[in-house]
Amino acid sequence: MKKVLAVVLALVLTLSLAGMAVAEGKVGVAMPTQSLQRWNQDGENMKAQLEAAGFTVDLQYANNEVATQVSQLENMILNGAQVLVVASIDGSALGTVLATAKEAGIPIIAYDRLLTDTEAVDYYTTFDNYKVGQIQGQYIVDRFDLSNDAVTGPFTIEFTAGSPDDNNAGLFFAGAYDTLKPYLDAGKLVIPSGQDQFEVVATPAWKSETSQARMDNILSAFYPEALTGGTTLDIALCSNDSTALGVTNSLVAAGFTAENIPVITGQDCDIANTKNMIAGLQAMSVFKDTRTLAEQTVKMVSDILSGVAPETNGVYDNKVKEVASYNCTPVFADASNYVELLIDSGYYTEDQLK
Ligand code: GAL
Repeated sequence: MKKVLAVVLALVLTLSLAGMAVAEGKVGVAMPTQSLQRWNQDGENMKAQLEAAGFTVDLQYANNEVATQVSQLENMILNGAQVLVVASIDGSALGTVLATAKEAGIPIIAYDRLLTDTEAVDYYTTFDNYKVGQIQGQYIVDRFDLSNDAVTGPFTIEFTAGSPDDNNAGLFFAGAYDTLKPYLDAGKLVIPSGQDQFEVVATPAWKSETSQARMDNILSAFYPEALTGGTTLDIALCSNDSTALGVTNSLVAAGFTAENIPVITGQDCDIANTKNMIAGLQAMSVFKDTRTLAEQTVKMVSDILSGVAPETNGVYDNKVKEVASYNCTPVFADASNYVELLIDSGYYTEDQLK
Protein backbone atom coordinates (compact mmCIF):
# COMPACT_ATOMS: atom_id res chain seq x y z
CA MET A 1 0.00 0.00 0.00
CA LYS A 2 2.83 2.36 0.99
CA LYS A 3 4.56 1.72 -2.36
CA VAL A 4 1.34 2.50 -4.27
CA LEU A 5 0.94 5.73 -2.32
CA ALA A 6 4.54 6.68 -3.06
CA VAL A 7 4.03 6.05 -6.77
CA VAL A 8 0.77 8.03 -6.80
CA LEU A 9 2.44 10.88 -4.94
CA ALA A 10 5.39 10.92 -7.33
CA LEU A 11 2.97 10.93 -10.28
CA VAL A 12 0.89 13.79 -8.82
CA LEU A 13 4.03 15.74 -8.08
CA THR A 14 5.44 15.13 -11.55
CA LEU A 15 2.20 16.11 -13.29
CA SER A 16 1.82 19.26 -11.21
CA LEU A 17 5.44 20.15 -11.90
CA ALA A 18 4.76 19.90 -15.63
CA GLY A 19 2.57 22.99 -15.53
CA MET A 20 4.63 24.77 -12.93
CA ALA A 21 6.55 27.92 -13.76
CA VAL A 22 9.90 27.98 -11.95
CA ALA A 23 10.04 30.84 -9.45
CA GLU A 24 13.07 32.92 -10.41
CA GLY A 25 15.87 32.65 -7.85
CA LYS A 26 13.96 30.73 -5.21
CA VAL A 27 16.07 28.41 -3.04
CA GLY A 28 14.61 25.79 -0.70
CA VAL A 29 16.64 25.34 2.48
CA ALA A 30 15.66 22.29 4.57
CA MET A 31 17.16 22.17 8.07
CA PRO A 32 16.70 19.18 10.46
CA THR A 33 15.72 20.84 13.74
CA GLN A 34 15.86 23.92 15.95
CA SER A 35 16.44 21.84 19.08
CA LEU A 36 20.22 21.67 18.48
CA GLN A 37 21.89 25.07 18.58
CA ARG A 38 23.94 25.02 15.44
CA TRP A 39 21.10 24.46 12.98
CA ASN A 40 19.44 27.72 14.00
CA GLN A 41 22.69 29.50 13.08
CA ASP A 42 22.96 27.50 9.84
CA GLY A 43 19.41 28.47 8.86
CA GLU A 44 19.89 32.14 9.75
CA ASN A 45 23.23 32.32 7.91
CA MET A 46 21.86 30.61 4.82
CA LYS A 47 18.76 32.85 4.66
CA ALA A 48 20.73 36.07 5.21
CA GLN A 49 23.51 35.21 2.75
CA LEU A 50 21.17 33.87 0.04
CA GLU A 51 18.97 36.99 0.30
CA ALA A 52 22.06 39.21 0.17
CA ALA A 53 22.96 37.40 -3.06
CA GLY A 54 19.53 38.25 -4.48
CA PHE A 55 17.70 34.95 -3.95
CA THR A 56 14.35 34.38 -2.27
CA VAL A 57 14.51 31.72 0.44
CA ASP A 58 12.09 29.09 1.68
CA LEU A 59 13.69 28.03 4.98
CA GLN A 60 12.09 25.14 6.87
CA TYR A 61 13.00 23.25 10.06
CA ALA A 62 11.63 19.69 10.40
CA ASN A 63 11.69 19.18 14.20
CA ASN A 64 13.85 16.07 13.68
CA GLU A 65 10.87 14.33 12.01
CA VAL A 66 11.70 12.69 8.67
CA ALA A 67 8.08 12.73 7.46
CA THR A 68 7.92 16.47 8.12
CA GLN A 69 11.14 17.05 6.18
CA VAL A 70 9.78 15.01 3.23
CA SER A 71 6.59 17.08 3.04
CA GLN A 72 8.56 20.32 3.40
CA LEU A 73 10.72 19.30 0.45
CA GLU A 74 7.63 18.35 -1.58
CA ASN A 75 6.19 21.81 -0.94
CA MET A 76 9.46 23.49 -1.90
CA ILE A 77 9.36 21.62 -5.21
CA LEU A 78 5.71 22.52 -5.82
CA ASN A 79 6.43 26.16 -4.91
CA GLY A 80 9.05 26.45 -7.63
CA ALA A 81 12.41 26.10 -5.87
CA GLN A 82 15.25 26.34 -8.36
CA VAL A 83 17.77 24.66 -6.02
CA LEU A 84 17.32 22.56 -2.88
CA VAL A 85 19.83 22.80 -0.03
CA VAL A 86 19.18 19.85 2.31
CA ALA A 87 20.56 19.29 5.82
CA SER A 88 18.90 15.90 6.30
CA ILE A 89 17.74 14.23 9.50
CA ASP A 90 18.29 10.79 7.97
CA GLY A 91 20.34 11.11 4.79
CA SER A 92 19.12 7.73 3.52
CA ALA A 93 15.39 8.44 3.93
CA LEU A 94 14.71 11.11 1.26
CA GLY A 95 15.18 9.08 -1.92
CA THR A 96 11.62 9.40 -3.27
CA VAL A 97 11.19 13.14 -2.86
CA LEU A 98 14.73 13.84 -4.08
CA ALA A 99 14.05 11.72 -7.17
CA THR A 100 11.00 13.90 -7.85
CA ALA A 101 13.18 17.02 -7.58
CA LYS A 102 15.74 15.47 -9.94
CA GLU A 103 13.01 14.63 -12.45
CA ALA A 104 11.94 18.28 -12.28
CA GLY A 105 15.51 19.33 -13.04
CA ILE A 106 16.10 20.86 -9.59
CA PRO A 107 19.76 20.62 -8.47
CA ILE A 108 20.26 19.30 -4.92
CA ILE A 109 23.05 20.26 -2.54
CA ALA A 110 23.56 18.11 0.57
CA TYR A 111 24.36 20.52 3.40
CA ASP A 112 26.73 19.35 6.15
CA ARG A 113 25.24 15.82 6.19
CA LEU A 114 25.63 13.58 3.14
CA LEU A 115 22.50 12.41 1.30
CA THR A 116 23.02 8.69 0.76
CA ASP A 117 21.53 5.85 -1.27
CA THR A 118 20.29 8.20 -3.99
CA GLU A 119 21.45 9.37 -7.41
CA ALA A 120 19.50 12.59 -6.82
CA VAL A 121 22.21 14.62 -5.11
CA ASP A 122 24.51 16.87 -7.11
CA TYR A 123 26.93 18.37 -4.61
CA TYR A 124 27.84 18.28 -0.92
CA THR A 125 29.15 21.08 1.27
CA THR A 126 30.44 20.20 4.72
CA PHE A 127 33.40 20.24 7.04
CA ASP A 128 35.95 17.41 6.83
CA ASN A 129 34.01 15.13 9.17
CA TYR A 130 36.64 12.39 9.57
CA LYS A 131 39.13 15.12 10.43
CA VAL A 132 36.82 16.35 13.21
CA GLY A 133 37.19 12.94 14.85
CA GLN A 134 40.94 12.95 14.25
CA ILE A 135 41.25 16.31 16.00
CA GLN A 136 39.42 14.89 19.03
CA GLY A 137 41.50 11.71 19.06
CA GLN A 138 44.80 13.52 18.56
CA TYR A 139 43.93 15.85 21.45
CA ILE A 140 43.70 12.79 23.73
CA VAL A 141 47.00 11.38 22.39
CA ASP A 142 48.73 14.69 23.09
CA ARG A 143 47.03 15.40 26.43
CA PHE A 144 48.05 12.00 27.83
CA ASP A 145 51.36 11.83 25.95
CA LEU A 146 50.34 8.40 24.64
CA SER A 147 52.98 8.31 21.88
CA ASN A 148 55.70 8.43 24.57
CA ASP A 149 56.99 4.88 25.16
CA ALA A 150 57.61 5.76 28.78
CA VAL A 151 53.89 6.40 29.25
CA THR A 152 52.15 3.09 29.85
CA GLY A 153 48.80 4.05 31.42
CA PRO A 154 46.39 2.42 31.34
CA PHE A 155 43.95 5.31 31.12
CA THR A 156 40.22 4.60 31.08
CA ILE A 157 38.05 5.93 28.24
CA GLU A 158 34.38 5.76 27.27
CA PHE A 159 33.00 6.70 23.84
CA THR A 160 29.79 8.63 23.09
CA ALA A 161 29.00 8.84 19.36
CA GLY A 162 26.30 10.68 17.45
CA SER A 163 23.00 9.70 15.86
CA PRO A 164 23.03 6.43 13.86
CA ASP A 165 20.90 8.00 11.07
CA ASP A 166 23.45 10.80 10.55
CA ASN A 167 26.20 9.85 8.08
CA ASN A 168 28.50 12.33 9.82
CA ALA A 169 28.31 10.47 13.13
CA GLY A 170 30.06 7.39 11.74
CA LEU A 171 32.81 9.55 10.28
CA PHE A 172 33.37 11.49 13.52
CA PHE A 173 33.58 8.23 15.49
CA ALA A 174 35.87 6.58 12.94
CA GLY A 175 38.25 9.54 12.88
CA ALA A 176 38.61 9.48 16.66
CA TYR A 177 38.67 5.70 17.07
CA ASP A 178 41.19 5.16 14.28
CA THR A 179 43.47 7.74 15.90
CA LEU A 180 43.20 6.08 19.33
CA LYS A 181 43.19 2.42 18.20
CA PRO A 182 46.99 1.94 18.39
CA TYR A 183 46.86 2.95 22.06
CA LEU A 184 43.82 0.75 22.76
CA ASP A 185 45.68 -2.15 21.13
CA ALA A 186 48.77 -1.38 23.22
CA GLY A 187 46.70 -1.34 26.42
CA LYS A 188 47.55 2.31 27.17
CA LEU A 189 43.83 3.05 26.84
CA VAL A 190 41.19 0.68 28.20
CA ILE A 191 37.36 0.77 27.93
CA PRO A 192 35.96 -0.69 31.19
CA SER A 193 32.42 -0.85 29.75
CA GLY A 194 33.74 -2.72 26.70
CA GLN A 195 31.47 -0.52 24.56
CA ASP A 196 33.55 0.25 21.47
CA GLN A 197 31.13 -0.36 18.57
CA PHE A 198 29.50 2.65 16.90
CA GLU A 199 26.01 1.11 17.11
CA VAL A 200 26.43 0.63 20.86
CA VAL A 201 27.84 4.06 21.71
CA ALA A 202 25.59 6.01 19.27
CA THR A 203 23.14 8.66 20.54
CA PRO A 204 19.84 8.85 18.60
CA ALA A 205 19.04 12.43 17.51
CA TRP A 206 22.19 13.57 19.28
CA LYS A 207 20.05 14.09 22.40
CA SER A 208 21.84 15.34 25.53
CA GLU A 209 19.29 13.55 27.73
CA THR A 210 20.15 10.24 26.05
CA SER A 211 23.92 10.60 26.41
CA GLN A 212 23.41 11.67 30.03
CA ALA A 213 21.32 8.60 30.86
CA ARG A 214 23.81 6.27 29.18
CA MET A 215 26.73 7.81 31.13
CA ASP A 216 24.68 7.44 34.35
CA ASN A 217 24.39 3.72 33.61
CA ILE A 218 28.07 3.36 32.72
CA LEU A 219 29.22 5.14 35.88
CA SER A 220 27.06 2.99 38.17
CA ALA A 221 27.95 -0.26 36.42
CA PHE A 222 31.69 0.20 35.79
CA TYR A 223 32.88 3.09 37.99
CA PRO A 224 30.91 2.68 41.23
CA GLU A 225 33.80 3.89 43.40
CA ALA A 226 35.25 6.43 40.96
CA LEU A 227 35.30 9.14 43.64
CA THR A 228 36.25 6.91 46.58
CA GLY A 229 39.49 5.36 45.39
CA GLY A 230 38.10 2.85 42.89
CA THR A 231 38.53 2.80 39.11
CA THR A 232 37.92 6.30 37.82
CA LEU A 233 37.10 7.55 34.32
CA ASP A 234 39.96 9.46 32.72
CA ILE A 235 38.47 10.31 29.29
CA ALA A 236 34.95 10.79 27.85
CA LEU A 237 35.35 10.97 24.06
CA CYS A 238 32.14 12.66 22.87
CA SER A 239 31.56 13.29 19.16
CA ASN A 240 29.79 16.64 19.56
CA ASP A 241 28.74 19.26 22.10
CA SER A 242 25.12 18.18 22.63
CA THR A 243 26.28 14.68 23.63
CA ALA A 244 29.19 16.16 25.63
CA LEU A 245 26.70 18.32 27.53
CA GLY A 246 24.74 15.24 28.59
CA VAL A 247 27.90 13.41 29.63
CA THR A 248 29.11 16.44 31.58
CA ASN A 249 25.76 16.76 33.36
CA SER A 250 25.96 13.09 34.34
CA LEU A 251 29.51 13.41 35.68
CA VAL A 252 28.73 16.58 37.64
CA ALA A 253 25.62 14.94 39.10
CA ALA A 254 27.83 12.02 40.17
CA GLY A 255 30.04 14.44 42.10
CA PHE A 256 32.85 15.26 39.67
CA THR A 257 34.07 18.88 39.60
CA ALA A 258 36.35 20.94 37.39
CA GLU A 259 39.18 19.64 39.60
CA ASN A 260 38.74 15.95 38.80
CA ILE A 261 36.27 15.63 35.90
CA PRO A 262 37.40 13.33 33.06
CA VAL A 263 38.82 14.90 29.89
CA ILE A 264 35.71 15.53 27.77
CA THR A 265 35.82 16.23 24.02
CA GLY A 266 33.14 17.88 21.88
CA GLN A 267 32.37 19.64 18.58
CA ASP A 268 30.49 22.79 17.48
CA CYS A 269 31.53 25.25 20.23
CA ASP A 270 27.91 25.52 21.36
CA ILE A 271 27.36 28.33 23.87
CA ALA A 272 26.66 26.00 26.82
CA ASN A 273 29.76 23.93 26.06
CA THR A 274 32.00 26.94 25.52
CA LYS A 275 30.91 28.13 28.96
CA ASN A 276 31.82 24.64 30.27
CA MET A 277 35.24 24.89 28.62
CA ILE A 278 35.80 28.26 30.30
CA ALA A 279 34.69 26.71 33.62
CA GLY A 280 37.12 23.78 33.17
CA LEU A 281 34.38 21.14 32.78
CA GLN A 282 34.88 20.39 29.06
CA ALA A 283 38.44 20.07 27.75
CA MET A 284 37.99 20.91 24.09
CA SER A 285 35.60 21.33 21.19
CA VAL A 286 35.96 21.66 17.42
CA PHE A 287 34.93 24.94 15.82
CA LYS A 288 33.01 24.68 12.53
CA ASP A 289 32.18 28.23 11.50
CA THR A 290 28.66 27.92 10.11
CA ARG A 291 29.13 31.31 8.40
CA THR A 292 31.88 29.77 6.29
CA LEU A 293 29.76 26.77 5.41
CA ALA A 294 26.90 29.08 4.38
CA GLU A 295 29.25 31.22 2.25
CA GLN A 296 30.51 28.14 0.47
CA THR A 297 27.00 26.81 -0.09
CA VAL A 298 25.67 30.13 -1.39
CA LYS A 299 28.61 30.32 -3.81
CA MET A 300 27.74 26.82 -4.98
CA VAL A 301 24.06 27.81 -5.49
CA SER A 302 25.08 30.88 -7.51
CA ASP A 303 27.52 28.88 -9.62
CA ILE A 304 25.00 26.15 -10.36
CA LEU A 305 22.31 28.65 -11.38
CA SER A 306 24.82 30.53 -13.55
CA GLY A 307 25.79 27.31 -15.31
CA VAL A 308 29.27 27.41 -13.77
CA ALA A 309 30.82 24.23 -12.33
CA PRO A 310 31.14 24.88 -8.57
CA GLU A 311 34.52 24.62 -6.85
CA THR A 312 34.97 21.30 -5.03
CA ASN A 313 37.89 19.85 -3.07
CA GLY A 314 36.70 16.37 -2.17
CA VAL A 315 34.48 13.42 -3.08
CA TYR A 316 32.21 11.29 -0.89
CA ASP A 317 30.77 7.90 -1.84
CA ASN A 318 27.06 8.05 -0.99
CA LYS A 319 26.63 4.30 -1.66
CA VAL A 320 25.26 4.78 -5.17
CA LYS A 321 27.42 7.57 -6.58
CA GLU A 322 30.53 9.69 -5.99
CA VAL A 323 29.35 13.10 -4.78
CA ALA A 324 31.67 16.05 -5.42
CA SER A 325 32.05 18.03 -2.21
CA TYR A 326 33.55 21.15 -0.75
CA ASN A 327 35.08 20.43 2.68
CA CYS A 328 35.52 23.43 4.94
CA THR A 329 38.22 23.18 7.63
CA PRO A 330 37.35 22.32 11.24
CA VAL A 331 39.47 24.03 13.91
CA PHE A 332 40.58 22.87 17.39
CA ALA A 333 39.05 24.99 20.17
CA ASP A 334 39.55 25.15 23.93
CA ALA A 335 39.70 27.67 26.78
CA SER A 336 43.02 28.98 25.45
CA ASN A 337 41.79 30.12 22.01
CA TYR A 338 38.00 30.61 22.24
CA VAL A 339 38.34 34.41 22.54
CA GLU A 340 40.15 34.71 19.24
CA LEU A 341 38.03 32.04 17.49
CA LEU A 342 34.59 32.95 18.77
CA ILE A 343 34.53 36.50 20.10
CA ASP A 344 37.13 38.34 18.01
CA SER A 345 35.60 36.77 14.88
CA GLY A 346 32.14 38.02 15.89
CA TYR A 347 30.67 34.53 16.12
CA TYR A 348 29.51 35.18 19.69
CA THR A 349 29.46 38.31 21.86
CA GLU A 350 31.24 38.31 25.22
CA ASP A 351 27.86 38.56 26.94
CA GLN A 352 26.64 35.38 25.29
CA LEU A 353 29.48 33.49 26.98
CA LYS A 354 29.05 35.03 30.44
C1 GAL B 1 26.08 16.67 12.82
C2 GAL B 1 26.84 17.96 12.69
C3 GAL B 1 27.50 18.26 13.97
C4 GAL B 1 26.70 17.86 15.20
C5 GAL B 1 25.42 17.08 15.02
C6 GAL B 1 24.26 17.58 15.82
O1 GAL B 1 25.65 16.20 11.61
O2 GAL B 1 27.82 17.90 11.65
O3 GAL B 1 27.96 19.59 13.93
O4 GAL B 1 26.52 18.90 16.07
O5 GAL B 1 25.01 16.95 13.71
O6 GAL B 1 23.79 18.76 15.32
